[in-house]
Amino acid sequence: MLNDFQIKYLPLIDERMCSYLADLNTYPTLKQAMLYSVQAGGKRLRPLLLLAVCQSLGRNIDEQVLGIGASLEFIHTYSLIHDDLPEMDNDDLRRGKPTNHKVFGQAMAVLAGDGLLTTAFENLASLDLPAESKVKLMGQLALAAGPQGMVDGQVGDIEGEQKRLTLAELKIVHKKKTGALLHFACLAGAILADADSKQTEALLKFGDCFGLAFQIYDDILDVVSTSEEMGKAVQKDATENKNTFPILLGLDGAYQALTDVLTQAKQELEVLKQMDVDVTLLSEFLGYFKLRK
Ligand code: IPE
Ligand code: IPE
Ligand code: MG
Ligand code: MG
Ligand code: MG
Repeated sequence: MLNDFQIKYLPLIDERMCSYLADLNTYPTLKQAMLYSVQAGGKRLRPLLLLAVCQSLGRNIDEQVLGIGASLEFIHTYSLIHDDLPEMDNDDLRRGKPTNHKVFGQAMAVLAGDGLLTTAFENLASLDLPAESKVKLMGQLALAAGPQGMVDGQVGDIEGEQKRLTLAELKIVHKKKTGALLHFACLAGAILADADSKQTEALLKFGDCFGLAFQIYDDILDVVSTSEEMGKAVQKDATENKNTFPILLGLDGAYQALTDVLTQAKQELEVLKQMDVDVTLLSEFLGYFKLRK
């Protein structure tokens, strides 16, 4: 089901992002740099989750829903461009291609990131949605992406290179740097589908578990996967003196933490099921996590 869903909607998300960027009136270099990272691929997990939440709640997946998905993926892509900069994680490979700054230089990579971030809100503002939902979506996207969300998590990650965090501190970093955008994916779906407050609460709890699981798994993959599979460098977190689940808990401990948070995520889906939400598709998202290689 998820596979068919992806086959159907991934091209529509991509088309929406590329056509929006193609129409911008910019210097050619800036447009190329923005398009380069967007077209490099990526799993598009955040917009897919947003669309899946809409579908689970019976909200028609129309141009407006795809538009919010595009905005979310613009922000995610910008965060990766900046994450890879020499002053951040210093990476040369992303989505199987040389990182943005390796191709366009650091100044243009910073600007391409700035451009994608701003474009996310411009695109959102242009959508044909009731003003009240639009303002709510904009405010919530800013909250998730900004200095109380993803940006703050990145600060925790970077400052963490100078010290060992406790597990509780690391969970906060993960929830912010990665969880916040996945939280938004669920929240935006709930807003677009007019979910009631109980459904929204359960969806957000599911999104938070998913977000934490996603970063724990990313930390695990840095240890057990290969650069070919990931399209980015591996064995990199220890080199950069990062705090990660495998570094704090060992690989077995990290897998156990992942198992625990996935159990919680499944419990939230049960809660949603009791509220007559069709959770089949959302359950399949949990199949992304492979508990052992
Ligand atoms: C990578 O995100 C950065 C993290 C938050 C772990 P993804 O694993 O979703 O990367 P893409 O979008 O598929 O490239
Ligand atoms: C990135 O976390 C989180 C972002 C907000 C971009 P990582 O630094 O672990 O992501 P990768 O491993 O480089 O994709
Ligand atoms: Mg990083
Ligand atoms: Mg990184
Ligand atoms: Mg990582």
